[in-house]
Amino acid sequence: MDKIRITGGQRLNGSIPISGAKNAALPLMIASLLTDETLTLVNVPRLSDVTALSRILSNHGADRTVAGKRIGQSAESGQTISLTARQIVDTCAPYELVSTMRASFWVIAPILARMGEARISLPGGCAIGTRPVDLLLMALERLGAEIRIENGYALARAPKGLKGGEIVFPKVTVGGTHTALMGAVLAQGTTVIENAACEPEVTDLAACLTKMGARIEGAGTPRIVVTGVARLGGAHHTVLPDRIEAGTYAMAVAMTGGDVVLEGVTPDLLQAALDALIRAGVDITATNEGIRVRRNGAAIAAVDIETQPFPGFPTDLQAQFMALMTMAKGTSRIRETIFENRFMHVQELARLGARIRLDGDVAIVEGVPKLTGAPVMATDLRASVSLVIAGLAAEGDTMINRVYHLDRGFEALEAKLSRCGALVERISG
Ligand code: EPZ
Repeated sequence: MDKIRITGGQRLNGSIPISGAKNAALPLMIASLLTDETLTLVNVPRLSDVTALSRILSNHGADRTVAGKRIGQSAESGQTISLTARQIVDTCAPYELVSTMRASFWVIAPILARMGEARISLPGGCAIGTRPVDLLLMALERLGAEIRIENGYALARAPKGLKGGEIVFPKVTVGGTHTALMGAVLAQGTTVIENAACEPEVTDLAACLTKMGARIEGAGTPRIVVTGVARLGGAHHTVLPDRIEAGTYAMAVAMTGGDVVLEGVTPDLLQAALDALIRAGVDITATNEGIRVRRNGAAIAAVDIETQPFPGFPTDLQAQFMALMTMAKGTSRIRETIFENRFMHVQELARLGARIRLDGDVAIVEGVPKLTGAPVMATDLRASVSLVIAGLAAEGDTMINRVYHLDRGFEALEAKLSRCGALVERISG
């Protein structure tokens, strides 16, 4: 299994191109199942989750072509993927495939909408919490689907097609909103989605569906209205930049000190995280190229945060912010409100010398003057990258094990950090 060795203590200077968002690319790829025409997606990140989802979609009958790299494009430029699901050849998504990636459960909506039936394995728990799918199934039931759970599978049927309905989510769910949207676009009549997720990835999916011929109003607000259409066509869509990748590198620069431009991303995608960095004493400016992040010498101030649905502070940046706070001057309180078990990085950060105490859903982080390198590993993607950030600022070598977590969500991580002066090396094994 590959490892990453980081020799800490280097400031980061230069620029980092921000990739297309993993969490936008995945639902966009799934939306290709809604039409028999070709959906072409530009700026798709080269990630193992994208490869895994491609395999799942081809199992359902989607043909895929990947455009070769054009002259002048660097290895870090995203790929252009064309997906054509002329026919859905299999309405079943088996356990072996769905269990590798939770987002693949979302295929239930387009397959049901197009074929009137779907048999999708329940995804099971994961490292950050139980992550049920009850609200996704509720949304489809509100659209007239009959659903029963049998042998670990959700069996959904709508022999006469889905019908518009009112979906009121009791809590904000990104996957639930994606599922409701993909179910509603081909349903007969009008669907109202209340308490919808406002995440930019939802807005991006809605924008792409609109290009495919869907009628959607209010995406990006808590109330989305969808007027069903008889069929959707092909489209050409560019995946939005990855706000979590951008926020991660912003926190890395905050931690090591330095001056880096995060290219291709706009502040509105991650304002809450940038505000927290500003309160911590980091200089943030919007430039024509992207976001410039600077910290020169000044101490990091302790800042309290609480994760919230967009536009609040994202749960997917909580671990990285905690890494930053381990070296702050003073004590910060970090409250996780989205997932019940997303503090797996705490014990690993402690191996580097961090002082963190857990009290229910709050982590109390007492800043220390320095961290020291150590072998570490993590159980999910964002926790892993928080250890990378801490390793960049720690004295000596940090060895990150289980690198496959990072490969799920960070394109060309070592290359992007190295070009800004970090000492990062992948060791194959
Ligand atoms: C998406 O997961 C992201 N994944 C997650 O990113 C992200 O952390 C999360 O949204 C929140 O922003 C992708 O986009 C692929 P939710 P999702 O449904 O859609 C509860 C990463 O690291 N819930 O918004 O699965 C749930 O347990 C990943 O890239 C139910 O109770 O998250 C959680 O507490 C990790 N019943 C809350 O809602 C349901 O049926 C929000 O989850 C569905 C969700």
